[in-house]
Amino acid sequence: MSTLIANKRLPAEVTNHQALERIRAVVAGGGSSNMRNLGVPRPLVVSAARGCHITDVEGAELIDLNMGYGPHIFGYNDQDVLGRIAAQMQRAHMTGLPSDLDAHAAELIGTLVRSMEQVRFANSGTEAVASTLRLARATTGRNHVVTFEGHYHGWSETIIRKVAPELGPREVRPGAPGMIPEALRYTLQVPWNDAEALEELLNRTGRTVAAVILEPVLANDGVSAPADGFLKRVRELTTRHGALLIFDEVISGFRVAAGGAQARYGVSPDLTVVSKVLGGGFPVAAFGGSRQMMAPLARNEALHAGVYAGNHLAMSAVTASLEKILANPSLYESLEQIGQHVEQRLRDGAARSSTDVTIERVGSIVGFGLLEDGLGQPGEAGRPRPRFAMQAHRDLQMRCQDRGVYFHPNPREPWFLSTAHTRPILDKAIDVIVDELRNKRPAGTAR
Ligand SMILES: Cc1ncc(COP(=O)(O)O)c(C=O)c1O
Repeated sequence: MSTLIANKRLPAEVTNHQALERIRAVVAGGGSSNMRNLGVPRPLVVSAARGCHITDVEGAELIDLNMGYGPHIFGYNDQDVLGRIAAQMQRAHMTGLPSDLDAHAAELIGTLVRSMEQVRFANSGTEAVASTLRLARATTGRNHVVTFEGHYHGWSETIIRKVAPELGPREVRPGAPGMIPEALRYTLQVPWNDAEALEELLNRTGRTVAAVILEPVLANDGVSAPADGFLKRVRELTTRHGALLIFDEVISGFRVAAGGAQARYGVSPDLTVVSKVLGGGFPVAAFGGSRQMMAPLARNEALHAGVYAGNHLAMSAVTASLEKILANPSLYESLEQIGQHVEQRLRDGAARSSTDVTIERVGSIVGFGLLEDGLGQPGEAGRPRPRFAMQAHRDLQMRCQDRGVYFHPNPREPWFLSTAHTRPILDKAIDVIVDELRNKRPAGTAR
């Protein structure tokens, strides 16, 4: 046990391990997401979260670099957002009827993300993506959807990503037992940042393609920025072939710029999906586009529904989060600066420890992972998927967790920096990581 966290430990009544076992007995797999359950080599059961720290059930306080997979741009427990949600909770939280918050939330989205003139709200990214694809199919009368390798658009049957690169070059096959075998029949896939592959596919199947969907900043397979000019090229190709362009900005929306990746890279999609930062940690998502693009929903010709979709609490979370973003014009510049600082310190540390790592960053999204061997340059056309040294990365993660620094055990999951991550806190975290990169001792070994 390190001195870093030992001092902060309260008398332990229950260990993380015991707490997780209790959960596992009644929650299948120990958590309500297969993806999250897969990523837990060392139990960590939370009792509180504040700023950029989480406290576990043993009373240890850890610096969190994953931050709940990205929603908390102002840190955990942000009083500006939470206070508004709490006040709304007392007023009206879920009536199934409209309130003026619906208009206010949607107007704020449209102010920040210009292409989202009209929206619909949903409860999760998966739901919003599924409805967006349905809308694209209804609009075009076509069935195929093109995705990119490594991109994640939720767990719904027709879009779940190819689970392993070995499965085949271009077609996505059913990802898991229990899925309808034909569900992915209309989902095609090409390598990320490979405009030629997309062009070739669209030339072959263009008239059947309803939409091309992508994460404009890939953040589910490590982090990978779009290659120079790539998004513009995709825009041209989709327009030429009459397919809609969908930006899945569940992660990048309000994260890489106030207007999301489309503002950062100057490319406007037909439809956009946002979530995560949108609600500051409250479960809410939205999808939208021009009024014309959303007209089939308004006319009841395409279906999107949900009892909780657009509930008053979710709308207050959206208005509180987006108002705070609008009130902080220097937000993205300061996130860029701490991002640069982290990147530089990590690069220096990795070089000194002679460890083969990948460090890729867009603003406050940082991809960091130990590599099996070298990887193509970030943004390179047809970027090869990174070959992460999964076990070595997990070992490093566990040693850091033992010393009070949490990042995700899966190197494909990025770090999400927030305004709560001050330089001294980040320096402390990176000192631990760099130290552990150099001293490759087994996890759990006393220092
Ligand atoms: C880019 C992207 N799209 C869609 C989703 C699915 O969102 P949810 O898990 O809220 O259903 C995620 C989840 O992380 C995501 O990162």
